[in-house]
Amino acid sequence: MAGRIRVAVVFGGQSAEHSVSLQSARFVLEALDPARFEVVPIGITGEGRFLVGGDPLARLTGGAPQSTSTELAPAAAAERVAGVDVVFPVLHGPHGEDGTLQGFLELAGVPYVGAGVLGSAVGMDKAVMKMVFAQAGLPLVPWRLLLRSELADQELVEGRLSGLSYPLFVKPANMGSSVGISRVSSAGERAAALADAARYDRRIVVEQGVDARELECGVLGNERPQASVVGEVLASGEFYDFQAKYDGSSGLKIPAEIDAAVAREIRAHAVQAFQAVDAAGMARVDFFLDRASGRVYLNEINTIPGFTRFSMFPLLWQASGVDFPELCTRLVDLALARHAERNRGAGAEPVA
Ligand SMILES: Nc1ncnc2c1ncn2[C@@H]1O[C@H](COP(=O)(O)OP(=O)(O)O)[C@@H](O)[C@H]1O
Ligand SMILES: [Mg+2]
Repeated sequence: MAGRIRVAVVFGGQSAEHSVSLQSARFVLEALDPARFEVVPIGITGEGRFLVGGDPLARLTGGAPQSTSTELAPAAAAERVAGVDVVFPVLHGPHGEDGTLQGFLELAGVPYVGAGVLGSAVGMDKAVMKMVFAQAGLPLVPWRLLLRSELADQELVEGRLSGLSYPLFVKPANMGSSVGISRVSSAGERAAALADAARYDRRIVVEQGVDARELECGVLGNERPQASVVGEVLASGEFYDFQAKYDGSSGLKIPAEIDAAVAREIRAHAVQAFQAVDAAGMARVDFFLDRASGRVYLNEINTIPGFTRFSMFPLLWQASGVDFPELCTRLVDLALARHAERNRGAGAEPVA
């Protein structure tokens, strides 16, 4: 079939979300329309080696240890990656969603799905993300930044966290899937939570906890992004931690049962958040709806949202009239359009 677009789907990776990525990738690989796309699966091992050829997904899921995939160092894989028409990164967390892979793809000159280097990096770092959101006038819960190297200084920590009241949420700045995140209900639990977050990152975010419903909104587009309907996460645990996210016990309610005015506010904020970090293609934007005050707070943006069959992002778009194969097609088209838009005028600047 001539004329098909060659799409490399990249999955796995070095982050704690490796296995989530594999589940997402399986769903994307199935959904890409074979009449339009020739799919090239590319795995990344936990050690950061690229797997090309054969069946890298089976190899990474342990199903086919003898798979004929070739294992390459990233530099050696660059040429393979550059040989496709577009790359669809389905990698969550550091070294996938944080701008590093995106920079690699920029250097290779290949279009890719989702946010660029800047949007990915800002969206990955919870502290910088909040600074950008605050500048854009978006509503955030009170929060503070601590460095791992500052934790030994009790006085400094006390001073930095003054003004926040329990419960607190302690998070590594650069992670995902709730890895390293703790809910701290009293001062006695705080040091352990800070130490745990410090295992994952040198930057630690401490937030005011809110008793809130968790609402999420999908965004799709480049220069004029659109918001999906709003969905609600019904977390099974005390909060939406790693287990609650992936053991199948948490429910999603799509669309969420909320006032039309709240839904409008969330959808508008979702688009503003997307534009504030200069995201592209897609994002899932997550909110808290304070049960007591009814106030909406922006929690975070995810530039590569979960893509499994049970994930919020594809289900939000399905409920908004965009089924999964259509969503994948649009994402590839948006990647190609963004690449063309960025290259427009490249070289047009006169060199003095
Ligand atoms: N300030 C907060 N108040 C209440 N719950 C929170 C707060 N921050 C995080 N949580 C809970 O922790 C979960 C994970 O936090 P989040 O910042 O979204 O990290 P991740 O990027 O790992 O998803 C949230 O979905 C929510 O259940
Ligand atoms: Mg989250």
